Amino acid sequence: MARLVIRGALVADGTGAPMSEGDVEIDGDRIRSVGQVGDGGGPSLDATGLVLAPGFIDTHSHDDYAVALHPDMQFKIMGGVTTVVVGNCGIGAAPRRWNEFFVRMVHGDAELPEWKDFQDYFDYMDASPASVNVAALAGHGTIREGVAGRGPADPSPAQIGEMSSLVSKALEAGCVGVSTGLVYEPGRYATTEEIAQVASPVGETGGVYASHIRDEGDRLIEAVDEAIAIGQAACAPVVISHLKVAGNRNFGKVSDALARIDRAGPTVTADHYPYTAGSTGLAAVVDGGIRNTSPETVVIASTKDHPEWHGRSLADLADGLGVVPSEVGGVVLEAEPNATVVLHMMSEEDVRTAVARPDIMVGSDGVPTLDGTPHPRLYGTFARVIGRYGRDLGLLTIEQAVHKMTGRPAHVFGLADRGVIRPGAIADLVLFDPQEIVDLGTYEAPHRFPAGIHGVWVNGTRVVEQGTHNGARPGQVLKRSA
Ligand code: ZN
Ligand code: CU
Repeated sequence: MARLVIRGALVADGTGAPMSEGDVEIDGDRIRSVGQVGDGGGPSLDATGLVLAPGFIDTHSHDDYAVALHPDMQFKIMGGVTTVVVGNCGIGAAPRRWNEFFVRMVHGDAELPEWKDFQDYFDYMDASPASVNVAALAGHGTIREGVAGRGPADPSPAQIGEMSSLVSKALEAGCVGVSTGLVYEPGRYATTEEIAQVASPVGETGGVYASHIRDEGDRLIEAVDEAIAIGQAACAPVVISHLKVAGNRNFGKVSDALARIDRAGPTVTADHYPYTAGSTGLAAVVDGGIRNTSPETVVIASTKDHPEWHGRSLADLADGLGVVPSEVGGVVLEAEPNATVVLHMMSEEDVRTAVARPDIMVGSDGVPTLDGTPHPRLYGTFARVIGRYGRDLGLLTIEQAVHKMTGRPAHVFGLADRGVIRPGAIADLVLFDPQEIVDLGTYEAPHRFPAGIHGVWVNGTRVVEQGTHNGARPGQVLKRSA
């Protein structure tokens, strides 16, 4: 790896401090100096008029297998993402054999290695790196499925002990915390006490408790309180995943949820994505785990054998299939048990409330169903926060937008020397045009890279040049620093 000086950029250093024009010198995988860098005769890049920021950290991804199946990770890195946190919503990468449902839902019949534990997974990613860095959460749902099955079991104290020791092992291997998905099978069957016990190793070794909480509708506030209580019982910092509220009668409650989070103190925070639609498996909608939907608001994103359904709502399909709207979800699920959907169910006001907070992190929650019509957040989340909500709507400065997707998550997840531009930090960098940056994907046509991303470096190696991926795969496994 070589030395490179990026000259004359507006440097947004990830801390939220005001940008200033300067040079950034990369030497190997680190930043050597920032400010006025003399001409050492080496290569340099004129970045006048562009913003140089730390690479974006996608705090909420489901790229556990995508980093192995699609290691160039274009749908993330072309939008400036240099690190993905995988293992959210209770669904972890390992053990692989306990994850059949999720793997098939997202990746169809694709072949994948059998990772027996997180050490295996990290060894695999070290040997076959992706273009982005990977940090992993252990998944409570995956672990519970392996120990107590997918159904509504009531685990014995010995089984709870087994789950907790699997979490310990995952943390020892380098996981950055544990996640839950309390609307999905089997996480939804777990009690508050069970989760606190299973998460307790996080309190001992460090890491976060990240939760897709039990209710994102009528009982949002109670569900936020449960997550906070689990964090307190386990002595673990809490990340409320994809903070949002669904259902017209609940609109506006995101600010109430933020008030609870603020009152709980600095160890409780959240991530969010900048769209009014969500996305998940159809199974969770039909089995009642996800509420506040109607056949008009549920749109098919991916299936195994019915590409002609992609992009169509359940209400629309009901006509063609000759079934009543109340039954169409079940009929479609029977034909396509692994279908994923986009759900139009949130308000713009609530999105703006979360986006305007520089301390609330950004997580795409993208589902990498590359053959279907996935939610456009998979590609556009970060550019949309900066371009649409920051520049066009004026809800954030560039510095604030960059902070919530770099310095802030690096701090929360304990990723040392990441998320900031300063001498000695790792050179994960994105160079973008502040006038041009914006997401381009739509719900109808989501497979589009954002505009305005001029360059991306991961661990000092350039991956994106003039809007093109050059094939480099310098990603590393990132483990929590003590
Ligand atoms: Zn979730
Ligand atoms: Cu998720």
